Amino acid sequence: MKMWSGRFRQPLDPAFEQWQRSFEFDCRLLECELEAISAHARAMEKAGVLSVDELRLVLRGLELIGEKAADSPEFLNDPEAEDIHHFVEKQLVALIGDAGYKLHSGRSRNEQIATDLRLYLRAGCDEISEELSALISAVLDRSEQVGQAAMPAYTHLQRAEPVLVAHWLLGYVEMFFRDLDRIGDCRKRANVCPLGSGAVTGSTIPLDRELMARELGFSAPSTNSIDATSDRDFVIEFVNALSLLALHLSRWAEEMLLFSTQEYGFVHLPESYSTGSSAMPQKMNGDLLELVRGKAGRIIGDATALLVTTKGLPLAYNKDLQETQEPLFHAAEAMLSSLPLVSGWTKAVEFDLERMQKAAETGYMNAFAAATYLTRKGVPFRIAHEQVGKAVRLALEKPCELQDLSLADLRAIDSHFDAEFFNFVKLENVLAIHDVPGGTAPVRVREAIAAARSKIAPACEDAHAHA
Ligand code: ARG
Repeated sequence: MKMWSGRFRQPLDPAFEQWQRSFEFDCRLLECELEAISAHARAMEKAGVLSVDELRLVLRGLELIGEKAADSPEFLNDPEAEDIHHFVEKQLVALIGDAGYKLHSGRSRNEQIATDLRLYLRAGCDEISEELSALISAVLDRSEQVGQAAMPAYTHLQRAEPVLVAHWLLGYVEMFFRDLDRIGDCRKRANVCPLGSGAVTGSTIPLDRELMARELGFSAPSTNSIDATSDRDFVIEFVNALSLLALHLSRWAEEMLLFSTQEYGFVHLPESYSTGSSAMPQKMNGDLLELVRGKAGRIIGDATALLVTTKGLPLAYNKDLQETQEPLFHAAEAMLSSLPLVSGWTKAVEFDLERMQKAAETGYMNAFAAATYLTRKGVPFRIAHEQVGKAVRLALEKPCELQDLSLADLRAIDSHFDAEFFNFVKLENVLAIHDVPGGTAPVRVREAIAAARSKIAPACEDAHAHA
């Protein structure tokens, strides 16, 4: 039986009937739906609408539905179910009779879907946070393993200054920490309970909304029934947080791909996460990285779809909101499936530290340090910049590196150059003089790794506490 057929004289156009269903995708909300219904049923009993026996019957029925779904995926093949709410009602009535119908008194699918989505999203926040914390740990492990090795830091994709490989990796750790924060933040705002909001104006049964919220682990009941049934800002916020994470992962993937080319040769792709070419026998392609980069496009698309779908909607519920489900599911599931693979890749990848280190020693990346040397001798930076520029020009013409110029050549450019210069522009010293918090001096990088380690431990515990 349909949930709403009484006032209709004509049957639905069969194509329309199929087309407007959401069960094909909202069936993944089954667990959330069962949880939410049991909280609602308890409140119904407390309000005197269900007897104690009926409540027991309902709870047993819900349990059976959960078991049946776990036992066989075919159980969810139901071409008649309009959506997850209709499906559960049908199954419940088949199992326990009319008490199943009674449940819908004082309730609407509008509040149910809003509740289910919050439960789904909250679980998504927790699972993704846990996987992201694991990725951060993996990157931190690698940052420790690479020790004091250096590499070029690039700006404009041109060699800029040498940097510790660990410092480069820690850059991503910071991005991922902010992503973790954003997801946690979004979880807080999403964690309120719409049950009791009815279709739009609130339930006509005096349901204990605090009780329902508590039962479901929400921090409080939502405050306005119109808002609770019609806004999806929590979905938008979550998918936008995922878009930023996807964007960070995409930049990571792009950089790793670039560094894995023969031209760079900094990264050896792990065979276990790469594929070959059906045509060119020699090839090994970084498909994992390319798919991570590609998925970012779709996740950002999900965020855009959500914004555009909801932007012109009058209050309160409109069926357009059904279209907000799939972008949420896609974004959450794409992210959740990607993260463990990115962690696996991170553990397996080999860095060619020798080649990175070599690259860090050439290309005049000590020119900024050379200018610093002159400023320490009292030369104003603008002049020092100019003088070192001239030295670079001379070295380019020879060709050689700055430290290969003779002291006489250097002094002809600026009399402040003297013999200490050659030590000052050695790689080790160039790294060491970037000695500020957040800088690449080895001592600062060690501190940064320790600080990140101490941040990740509580983040992991948080994720467990929410599970
Ligand atoms: N499947 C619907 C959705 O996802 C559930 C809510 C239906 N409400 C309604 N008034 N038709 O939005």
